[in-house]
Amino acid sequence: MLEQVTKVHDESRQGEAFAPESAADQTYQKKFYIESYGCQMNFNDSEIVASILNQEGFGATRNFEEADLVLLNTCSIRDKAEQTVRKRLQEFRKIKQSNPGLLVGVLGCMAERLKAKLLEEEKLVDMVVGPDAYRTLPALIEEAETGQKAVNVLLSREETYADINPVRLDSNGVTAFVSIMRGCNNMCTFCVVPFTRGRERSRDPYSIIQEATDMFNRNYREVTLLGQNVDSYYWVGVSPENGQEETITFASLLEKVALISPLLRVRFSTSHPKDITDDVLHTMAKYENICNYIHLPVQSGSTRVLQLMNRTYTREWYMKKVERIRELLPDCGLSTDIITGFCTETEEDHQDTLSMMEFARYDLAYMFFYSERPGTLAARRYQDDVPEEVKKRRLSEVVELHRRQALESMQKDLGKTFKVLIEGTSKRSEQDLFGRNDQNKVIVFPREHYEKGQYVQVKVTDCTAATLIGKVV
Ligand code: SAH
Ligand code: SF4
Ligand code: F3S
Repeated sequence: MLEQVTKVHDESRQGEAFAPESAADQTYQKKFYIESYGCQMNFNDSEIVASILNQEGFGATRNFEEADLVLLNTCSIRDKAEQTVRKRLQEFRKIKQSNPGLLVGVLGCMAERLKAKLLEEEKLVDMVVGPDAYRTLPALIEEAETGQKAVNVLLSREETYADINPVRLDSNGVTAFVSIMRGCNNMCTFCVVPFTRGRERSRDPYSIIQEATDMFNRNYREVTLLGQNVDSYYWVGVSPENGQEETITFASLLEKVALISPLLRVRFSTSHPKDITDDVLHTMAKYENICNYIHLPVQSGSTRVLQLMNRTYTREWYMKKVERIRELLPDCGLSTDIITGFCTETEEDHQDTLSMMEFARYDLAYMFFYSERPGTLAARRYQDDVPEEVKKRRLSEVVELHRRQALESMQKDLGKTFKVLIEGTSKRSEQDLFGRNDQNKVIVFPREHYEKGQYVQVKVTDCTAATLIGKVV
């Protein structure tokens, strides 16, 4: 695979350490090192943490050996995600032995899920900080510096960090993520997010527009609006434009961001099939700079399993939604998340998932086998009764089908010409650049005299299952 499509669950980025290019900045007296796991919202939170720490005199470093503070911003979505962090903590235990002054903090969803228990289980951890408590980091660090353990895992109904300008930690200078909401009210029975992230709340739209405008003025050319369920974005307040009370839905927010400039591409993730409206689809159709790409997780193709998952839609309802998208946005890219082996899933249910894939012809899929999460409704109500080898076999069938479909989806584009926003140099070759088309597909092409941040028309001449290959025309 060439460049990975950067999306909410980009497995290739898990645990990477990020700091701005100018990390060697001497203006900071102390240094922090941060690794991020999980979804893009968690990566974005790390940028908020960086902003708060900069204010406190901590500069970011990519080298943990020179850090005074090591932070792991963690994910709980599947057991494997937590195991990865546990292993990493083992490694930091050794480093701390040779540098006892080093502070180690666990942030994010694992901190929220395990709370102070984490301090008992992982003795080297000094701080446990939940996703809504990052403003208190300075006080917590001070406390930890005196040798005490510091914990704040309070969830909030209001916190959106709207006024904090994220410090871009791993920026290509062209594309950026902007969180528009936090938390989730959906209670899918398999999912830990409502417990680790709390209640859903929407961020002030004008702070979102300001952040996106600011990015555009600094030469960014694409923003991705982030939320666990962007279609339920909802804000009521007084408009600073006319002093009137107004209601902003996701469709109206999308429009406002699209109007910043036709040169600014707008993407968003994730859409819940039950909440994406015709209004959103019409807005996408109306503005050329809103990208024709929707991440619409189906999870399962079986109505019975969907009901057990509390997804609140049926197989037929989801299919109608896909048809509606194709009707209003004929060349829209479509991606999904799929879970195999959820409680009670039969071979027949599994076949329903495969046939759903045949129907929807996803361009991209993120596929997982079910991992029971403590405290979730599924863990409390249902038995995790599909044997692991069956879950994995079904997953490999889903992956196999997706691989075929992804290649077909790419082959369909041979000979076509796409508008591409250049994001940088290809990982494979210095001679090549890469960018993405409207549908979120990665395209690699010879550099010639082009530069990142430019839009170019690229004609596709070849492909793999993950990448289109072409030439600027
Ligand atoms: N808010 C998004 C998804 C967030 S979690 C949505 O509603 O679609 C990202 C994906 O992880 C989910 O879509 C689901 O496919 C997967 N996932 C969540 N919990 C899981 C679990 N317990 N086991 C396996 N996969 C899970
Ligand atoms: Fe989890 Fe469902 Fe919320 Fe997505 S919508 S974060 S899967 S509870
Ligand atoms: Fe994201 Fe993982 Fe938390 S997917 S919301 S970091 S559990």
